[in-house]
Amino acid sequence: MPPKKKGIEEPKVDVPNGDAGAGREVFDQHCGACHAFDGDEKTAAAPILAGIVGRPAGITGFKYSNAMKKSGITWSDKHLFMFLKAPAKYVPGLKMAFAGLESE
Ligand code: HEC
Repeated sequence: MPPKKKGIEEPKVDVPNGDAGAGREVFDQHCGACHAFDGDEKTAAAPILAGIVGRPAGITGFKYSNAMKKSGITWSDKHLFMFLKAPAKYVPGLKMAFAGLESE
C-alpha cells in the first residue's frame, strides 16, 4: 500500500449517470466563459480542462491558488461531482469565482 497522501479524500458518493449532451449545454452556460479545452494555459482565464479526469489538481501551466495546488485531489467523477456543487467549500481558498451548480 502506498503511503496515504495528505489532501482531500475522494468522497463516497454515488454519481448519477452522465448525459454528455446535457453536460455540454451546462458547460457552455456555466463554465465556458472561463474554461476551454485547449489553448495557451499561461494566458487563459482558467485552467485548460482537456484530460481533466485522472489528472492531479493544479498541474497545468495555469497560475493556481495554493489551495488548488495543495488540495491533493486527483480528479475523478466523484471529486468533480462534489467540487462542482460548491467549489469554494470543497477547496477552501479556491480562486474560481463560481458558486456551484444547483442541480445534479
Ligand atoms: C469565473 C471563472 C470560472 C468559471 C465560471 C468556472 N471556473 Fe473552473 N476554475 C476557474 C479558476 C480561476 C480555476 C483555478 C482555481 C485556483 O487555482 O484556485 C478553476 C479550476 C477548475 C478546476 C480544477 C482544474 C485543475 O487543473 O486542477 C476544474 C475541474 C474546474 N475549474 C471546472 C469547472 C467547471 C466544470 C465549471 C462549470 C460548471 C467551472 N469550472 C466554472 C475559473 C472558473
